[in-house]
Amino acid sequence: MSGLVDGKSAIITGSAQGIGEATALRYAEEGADVVVADVLVEGGEETVAQIEEMGGNAVFVETDVSQAADIQNMITTCIEEFGSIDVLFNNAGIDGPIEPIVEYDEEGFDEVIDVNLKGVWLGLKYGVEAMLEDGGGSIISTSSIGGQVAVPEYSGYGATKAGVSLITKSAALEYATEGIRANAIAPGLVKTPMVENIMQEDEEMAEQFRNMEPMGGLADPEEIANSVLFLGSDLSSRVTGHTLAVEGGFLSQ
Ligand SMILES: NC(=O)c1ccc[n+]([C@@H]2O[C@H](COP(=O)([O-])OP(=O)(O)OC[C@H]3O[C@@H](n4cnc5c(N)ncnc54)[C@H](O)[C@@H]3O)[C@@H](O)[C@H]2O)c1
Repeated sequence: MSGLVDGKSAIITGSAQGIGEATALRYAEEGADVVVADVLVEGGEETVAQIEEMGGNAVFVETDVSQAADIQNMITTCIEEFGSIDVLFNNAGIDGPIEPIVEYDEEGFDEVIDVNLKGVWLGLKYGVEAMLEDGGGSIISTSSIGGQVAVPEYSGYGATKAGVSLITKSAALEYATEGIRANAIAPGLVKTPMVENIMQEDEEMAEQFRNMEPMGGLADPEEIANSVLFLGSDLSSRVTGHTLAVEGGFLSQ
């Protein structure tokens, strides 16, 4: 049986856990060779081990997405190990401070911009450059519903996620005729360490989260991974510049 991304190679950032890990496993299941890129070495190596147990191919590259040299190294490794770069999922991200603007720490603002926004921009910059030489490809970046509507106390995070959707459109327009597609996903609330940590600390917040999306409850990471699989596969060959919301109907309200 052939997989949706058979023979393709995919780099997935932030794949030591959460949405990135689920997507790395899903891509491997559907036939892709996978570069697992993350700052977390142990978690990244565990993702690789899971893929190898499934009979797939994967390598871990320690990567801080806010550093251009790390992004370039992750792309070079993909081409050296697997011969090409077909899909790049710019997924690594952090919450940053959770505070009203007056109390919001300036260093924390710089950090969330560096990881969530500059990290995606660097991925597009060097990912597109490599794909132009390699016959095209698909780049998907992780935005959020928090980039489409304002969430109190998330001003830095929200700005980065709105920015991700916009630079995705810039890249889509700039390279539309060159075989490169750029899209984003905007998850709602997903059961990953990022959200589970908040829910464990604050039961009132946890209850709000469970009731936030019209479909009820939170998404499984695999439900986000399936959308990323669609955008990285040839099934979405005419889709570019789009931010695909995966949020149980939240944005329809
Ligand atoms: N979980 C949600 O509900 C939700 C909703 C909307 C958007 N998102 C976005 O989805 C993406 C993945 O989040 P998640 O929920 O899986 O979170 P997570 O915290 O479980 O995983 C994030 C991963 O990114 C890695 N990472 C953090 N900073 C990095 C850096 N500088 N370089 C490389 N890797 C780095 C972490 O080590 C971790 O493995 C993020 O961009 C997040 O903002 C999550």
